[in-house]
Amino acid sequence: TKQQVKDQLGRPLRDIRISVIDRCNFRCQYCMPAELFGPDYAFLPKSELLTYEEITRLASIFIKLGVEKIRLTGGEPLLRKDLPILVEMLSKINGLKDIALTTNGVLLPKYASQLKEAGLERINISLDSLNDELFGEINGRNVGVGPVLQGIEAAKGAGLRIKINMVVKKGLNDSEIIQMATYCKEQNLELRFIEYMDVGSTNGWMMEDVVTKQQIYEILKEHFEFEPVEAAYYGEVAKRYRYKGTDINFGFITSVSESFCSTCTRARLSANGQIFTCLFNGNGHNIRDFIRSGATDQDVEERIKGIWNHRSDRYSDERTEETRIARKKIEMSYIGG
Ligand code: GTP
Ligand code: 5AD
Ligand code: SF4
Ligand code: SF4
Repeated sequence: TKQQVKDQLGRPLRDIRISVIDRCNFRCQYCMPAELFGPDYAFLPKSELLTYEEITRLASIFIKLGVEKIRLTGGEPLLRKDLPILVEMLSKINGLKDIALTTNGVLLPKYASQLKEAGLERINISLDSLNDELFGEINGRNVGVGPVLQGIEAAKGAGLRIKINMVVKKGLNDSEIIQMATYCKEQNLELRFIEYMDVGSTNGWMMEDVVTKQQIYEILKEHFEFEPVEAAYYGEVAKRYRYKGTDINFGFITSVSESFCSTCTRARLSANGQIFTCLFNGNGHNIRDFIRSGATDQDVEERIKGIWNHRSDRYSDERTEETRIARKKIEMSYIGG
């Protein structure tokens, strides 16, 4: 039987973002800047990572406590060896309604059909520009747009539902908003414009670099006709719109200008088995060592319940210049967005 644990603000635990690896083959400026994540950067050794058995065990317990949706992230999750095996293990758990993956897409030609066969239904692919030179600069690895477009094709071909994530940063890629929207509309892909966030402490975030939903909305209004769409479920992150006369949607993820903490139902599990109750709360709870020391499922359940019951995070609601600097934060590549 399923329980529904709630936190201090009455928010249920509904979804878990699981980071399977902290490494990435890109060095996006806003996430893992190459100057800071260089050749000597100490990524987690394999022994520190949760095994697929451990992840599956924890996921089953989370599901007993009310979780319905699992998202696999990284770093770049497809760099973890045999990821389709994990997808298959997770998709067999009773009570799970949705399993998804967030990826930069370049390894999809290799894995898309295996992922689909393993039970994955949908995938979110990051793409910030359609201009090779600019995209190469943003991803820090000089990779052009081609490999990502091939990844999108592979995902389509495998029958996966796809969303495209575009992080918009002022002066960097805000000139690409119309091109991206046009492309995604033509390709029947749901595009989400993501406000650049002050995650971690390495990306040098400044409020001036944020392009807000309102600003993007005004730009789109000059080129397209669209109307709002009802939220699909409680706590949906994106605010969605539909191009008039079509069934093609796009959305905004407004973590900065219109925070959505009041309905935030997400826990995060890092690749080395720490539970985080907010993207911006750097105090993790080490569940890996707890299970490795022989805790029973009942023990783990009680522990997770306790963590969620105590939760009162609402960082994006409270964000001010002071909290932004004072907070002990955690890199997104480690915690998985
Ligand atoms: P869907 O289930 O497809 O709606 O996915 P999603 O939008 O929840 O996940 P995705 O991994 O595609 O993330 C898109 C953006 O939303 C990323 O920039 C995430 O960091 C951001 N995001 C997701 N959840 C949260 C959250 O709880 N808080 C904040 N501040 N940002 C979030
Ligand atoms: N602000 C907003 N979104 C970000 N992402 C990575 N770093 C940031 C940031 N600083 C996005 C990625 C990916 C998703 C998981 O998070 O582009 O699409
Ligand atoms: Fe890698 Fe995604 Fe971070 Fe870019 S945003 S560096 S693709 S994890
Ligand atoms: Fe949830 Fe924290 Fe994001 Fe608010 S800032 S929506 S509490 S993860």
